[in-house]
Amino acid sequence: GAPVSADISKLETGQQMTVEWRGKPVWVVRRSEEMIEQTRNISPDRLRDPQAQADQQPPYASGPLRSIKPEIAVLVGICTHLGCSPTFRPEPGAADLGGDWPGGYFCPCHGSRFDLAGRVFTGVPAPLNLEVPPHRYDSDTVLVVG
Ligand code: FES
Repeated sequence: GAPVSADISKLETGQQMTVEWRGKPVWVVRRSEEMIEQTRNISPDRLRDPQAQADQQPPYASGPLRSIKPEIAVLVGICTHLGCSPTFRPEPGAADLGGDWPGGYFCPCHGSRFDLAGRVFTGVPAPLNLEVPPHRYDSDTVLVVG
């Protein structure tokens, strides 16, 4: 499939947009400073692959934030368990997700949890972090996926 361009100039801090690429939803999130800090501060013991080294990913997807720019997350929005669509749950401490919830994604099908970098928590069925698709920036406001 051809690469897909997305204008991210109107994406507000803390918000997520979806871009379709090869029939898949790709989420683009503009993370706030707080979101970046919360994500960096998650104890590695809580994550299956905290440095994102086990999965086949672009080189810029390794490390805790798994992104080219710290503030922009780009993730394939498909649960790595059985392919459901996880829900964007950015609010830290959400009561139904536990007081230590740092913000991230919750999969309603079997309860897998991912942080705002798509890193999978331990103790859930999903085996891998959310996929980071190949992507680049053509300018500050144009993201190209694929
Ligand atoms: Fe997401 Fe099973 S498909 S937890």
